[in-house]
Amino acid sequence: MTLENPKFDFDTPIDRTKTNSIKWGSRTIAREGLTSLSVADMDFAMDEHILQAMRRRIEHPIFGYEFTADSLNDVFAAWQLQQHGFTVDTESILHLPGVVNGIALSILAFSKPGDGVVIQPPVFPPFFEVVENNARQLLLNPLLYDQKLLTWRMDLTGLETLFVNDSPKLMLLCNPHNPVGRVWRMDELQQLAELCHHHGVVLISDDIHSDFIFSGHIYTPLANAVRHGGPGFVQLISPDKTFNMTGLGFAFVLVPDVEQRKTLQEKIRVMGLSRANIMASTAVEAAYAYGTEWFGAVLTYIERNHQIFREQLATRVPWARVSKAEGSFVSWVDLQASGLSHEELAYVIRHDAKLMVFDGLSFGENGEYFFRFNLACSRTVLQDAVDALIRALAVGKDREPSKVSLDTIIDRRCCG
Ligand SMILES: Cc1ncc(COP(=O)(O)O)c(C=O)c1O
Repeated sequence: MTLENPKFDFDTPIDRTKTNSIKWGSRTIAREGLTSLSVADMDFAMDEHILQAMRRRIEHPIFGYEFTADSLNDVFAAWQLQQHGFTVDTESILHLPGVVNGIALSILAFSKPGDGVVIQPPVFPPFFEVVENNARQLLLNPLLYDQKLLTWRMDLTGLETLFVNDSPKLMLLCNPHNPVGRVWRMDELQQLAELCHHHGVVLISDDIHSDFIFSGHIYTPLANAVRHGGPGFVQLISPDKTFNMTGLGFAFVLVPDVEQRKTLQEKIRVMGLSRANIMASTAVEAAYAYGTEWFGAVLTYIERNHQIFREQLATRVPWARVSKAEGSFVSWVDLQASGLSHEELAYVIRHDAKLMVFDGLSFGENGEYFFRFNLACSRTVLQDAVDALIRALAVGKDREPSKVSLDTIIDRRCCG
């Protein structure tokens, strides 16, 4: 059991090393004895309600073709209303096996090869790939960093210039924004939506982290900020991060505009992607119907992990700048004041602290000197990792600059 909620045990680490977990199961992790705070899934067992529903489904020995029950959308809508006060129009919902395929299909549906698509780095690396792999032109509107307040905002002036000069067709939004942890406010989203409306840019909002919202912040779904009748928008929401079932693969795609929904539906049909996985839909329905208490406990635990991480770094390596996390379970840390190069920092974290984390440069050029730490782990793992990191940084700061090659240090595969 955990201190915060005796009904759940998030404290006892679960060994994932002998599984095919991308985060924990790699040969590199085993060979180098690393602790992994990398890929964005959680080290916590799923809610027992979900496991029970899956076991019950397995009791029936046939896994033939199935339709998706309407009740799936109903429990999803009830969750959105209960958690965020968001009224979902269930008519607007499509289903897909994942958020990234929802982004890819939206790109294919609402733009042509060569069209511009705007993203705001530092951002989830597949945002770069999904644009370029579909032969669209990547347009960057980097987020602005406030080093004193340790927070990030959108550059709406830069965005307008980009809209005027490059006439993009689409823009990808990440809300909350992975990796910087911003939960976009209503006023920010309204200004963004106005700009997109004015310049005919379709917004695709990746809201996969939208249940992870910390005290004092609220998740604003794009649907509540957008003036209808404009170029339209798509919102991608998934239970996969929320309930720690990224391996099952399920996403809800909200497309309020009827014509746009038909266009996207047609793309999905052409790709032959319209069938949900039976175990995923079973798990998703149980999760939204019965997972409130489990998720509430997870959220409290993660918010506390963020606090521990931030406070210990602030006390023991005060020059390290931890971006203020308003949501999500990742922490974005600026180590530029160490005086070390990015490569040396990567070396210190991997070889001295023995941690596998994500390299900031995978999130864009303005990720230099940054590293992303996944804090969805048990508190013992967190504490050991923090101690190792602080020790290594304290020593590393005074080490002679050495020549190290980035390629030997950094695992650039990045799933999340
Ligand atoms: C912002 C963001 N979008 C999408 C994904 C992956 O979504 P999916 O596995 O459903 O494609 C992740 C995973 O880390 C993410 O952080």
